[in-house]
Amino acid sequence: GGVHTAHPHDSAHKHVAGSAIYVDDITEPAGTLHAGLGLSGVAHATLKAVDLSAVLAAPGVVAVLTAKDVPGENDISPSGMHDDPILADGKVEFLGQPIFCVIAETRDQARRAARLAKIDYDELPAIIDIGGLEAEKDRQVTTPLVLKRGDAAGALETAPRRIKGRMRLGGQDHFYLEGQVSLAVPGEDDEVEVYCSTQGPSETQHMIAHALGVPNHAVTVEVRRMGGGFGGKETQANQCAVIAAIAARKLKRAVKVRLDRDEDMTATGKRHDFVIDYDVGFDDEGRILAIDYTYGQRCGFSADLSGPVGDRALFHCDNAYFYPHVHARSALFYTNTVSNTAFRGFGGPQGMVGAERVIDEIAFATGKEPLEIRKLNFYDAMDKRAGRDVTPYHQKVEDCIIQRIVAELEESADYAGRRREIAAFNANSRFIKRGIALTPVKFGISFTKTESNQAGALVHVYTDGSVHMNHGGTEMGQGLHMKVAQVVAEEFQIDIDRVKVTATTTGKVPNTSPTAASSGADLNGMAAQNAARQIKDRLIDFAAETHQIPRDQVVFLPNRVRIGNHEISFNELVQQAYVARVQLSAAGFYKTPKIHWDRAKGRGHAFYYFAYGAACSEVSIDTLTGEYVVERTDILHDAGRSLNTAIDIGQVEGGFVQGMGWLTTEELWWDEKGRLRTHAPSTYKIPLASDRPKIFNVALTDWSQAYEPTIHRSKAVGEPPLPLGLSVLHALADAVASVANHKICPRLDAPATPERVLMAVERMKREA
Ligand code: MTE
Ligand code: MOS
Repeated sequence: GGVHTAHPHDSAHKHVAGSAIYVDDITEPAGTLHAGLGLSGVAHATLKAVDLSAVLAAPGVVAVLTAKDVPGENDISPSGMHDDPILADGKVEFLGQPIFCVIAETRDQARRAARLAKIDYDELPAIIDIGGLEAEKDRQVTTPLVLKRGDAAGALETAPRRIKGRMRLGGQDHFYLEGQVSLAVPGEDDEVEVYCSTQGPSETQHMIAHALGVPNHAVTVEVRRMGGGFGGKETQANQCAVIAAIAARKLKRAVKVRLDRDEDMTATGKRHDFVIDYDVGFDDEGRILAIDYTYGQRCGFSADLSGPVGDRALFHCDNAYFYPHVHARSALFYTNTVSNTAFRGFGGPQGMVGAERVIDEIAFATGKEPLEIRKLNFYDAMDKRAGRDVTPYHQKVEDCIIQRIVAELEESADYAGRRREIAAFNANSRFIKRGIALTPVKFGISFTKTESNQAGALVHVYTDGSVHMNHGGTEMGQGLHMKVAQVVAEEFQIDIDRVKVTATTTGKVPNTSPTAASSGADLNGMAAQNAARQIKDRLIDFAAETHQIPRDQVVFLPNRVRIGNHEISFNELVQQAYVARVQLSAAGFYKTPKIHWDRAKGRGHAFYYFAYGAACSEVSIDTLTGEYVVERTDILHDAGRSLNTAIDIGQVEGGFVQGMGWLTTEELWWDEKGRLRTHAPSTYKIPLASDRPKIFNVALTDWSQAYEPTIHRSKAVGEPPLPLGLSVLHALADAVASVANHKICPRLDAPATPERVLMAVERMKREA
């Protein structure tokens, strides 16, 4: 059982049985202390006076840390902008920003003490919302990106039809089940070991070393698994980790920092919300001729990953559509809110939302079925003469399979038949209206930061033939460890349970990229394969030499090896090789070929390949209340030659539901003072099991394989399914539009909460 096998997730049983070990489950060293954070109560201010005497005097309190206690630089900015203080120094820039940290014997004592601080703020004007901000004049956190090809302005002038509009699109809280948490254990001299729920242990290590003012080699970061990351632990795990490490070094005791849900939602970054301005020119058929986009995003008070997130939004402003002339720019607005960050899709989904709104506009303007408009505008990689295969960033789409996926899904979901049934249903139903939509996804795979596209692995074969496997990727529920173990089992042709996946640690594989951009299996699978092959090559050399036969007569069969005309078990071969002093351990490495990206020019081969998918959703809405139900969803998704169909289908289901939640019920709402009012599950509604589509058919394409030589021709599957949730937003819009006989574009903004659906229905009634 190596690759292309539907093994269950290695920890599936432990996850549900409660025996999986997360950071907060690790046995605490004797004398472990606990932290509580003191958060800013205002959105923007200079700190006039910070009186922490009552905090220090509170029961159980051992120490209080402020910016002054940071031995190295008080900064955890991942972008090199030096704009992310660990603890606020002299000023605060969002409500919820950590100002101090109190360390006490128990977590309860620390949290109670934190409330006793007396902070005197000199309040400054705060920018909360981005609705009124302008790309030309308002402050941005870093340099925006412009993509252009052809002459968009000229082609817009001459286009037979033209529509301008604006869409608002909400952000999203990660709502990982396990919140941000770190446990730091001080060692000898300057050493510290940190157990952290982080997607990027190397970056966490480097941040800790930087803040402590010690070399990277003094810091070890370990992560066995996260209880979900979803991008929220790519950079945002660093703050708790650094604070824990500083306190542990100072007090020479283990220190744990664990945020509760309200703190986590208030003090850590989220998916960026956007304001998308579009100006599209098209012909009477509905073919797009030219487009101009501005993607404005709420970045919060610092750059964090906002630059690359904005880039990826622009990289996906085409979704699966060819734009003959295009001009697109990002606007990375500074606001006095928490610094927004990576979230599954990393801006890509936001880019696609704009593209799909434009499709709807054209469909309503031309009176055509939206799916027809979609198909008319797809990239065409087959007809080379047509030249309809170039993206706004000048990369050719060589592997486009969206037409086939959409055609197959249209058929299997009976789109046309159900469209007719829905029309008949709506004609006879006064209050309940149904709607349907089929939306495509094309998602680029690779980090756009070229140096991140590398990975390492470490494989040991022990003398009993069991294998210890380690790689730079982290496990957050997505099944990465299982997939990489399958790759190693495949190389040695041994049973999967002979391969032990161990915790990711910076001490075994150094300088790793965060597990992000969906490339965990692509990169680490290749690195692990490389390591396993080195050992396998040595075993083959050894067997060929000792038996005086050519190398190709040494063949690995399931749990055994054929050497010439006899067979021995894998374990025996390993044992013999050990005795003959053959090295049974190897470090592997991989870097993605072909990719390059010139941001200043807006040109490059930014992605190694694309992953594709499509979803068809049907909803019913109650036009009196705006409430809705997803009646049915059909998905056909491309995971190439899937390494593990069980895990990949789980990723597709989870990604779709998370995308649906983002676009429907999950609403982040800050008041004018900058206080996040939706900071707990009581006010922030993620999809429940009962919100899933009543009928849910999910399939992987069984015919596709990666166009490039990826690991066993599989494709990345972590993020691409999330924007499949767009089918629900568009089905809702379709149901709303039925109120006015599909004559008016509902321009339904996201999240399409029941309130927003109701308002759109009311508008249809007024304008019909
Ligand atoms: N699936 C689960 N169960 N939990 C997660 O936190 N994160 C997603 C996706 N799927 C996530 C998940 C995100 S944001 C990414 S980038 C990928 O998994 C990362 O893992 P991969 O590169 O191994 O696919
Ligand atoms: Mo995923 S947003 O790239 O961590």
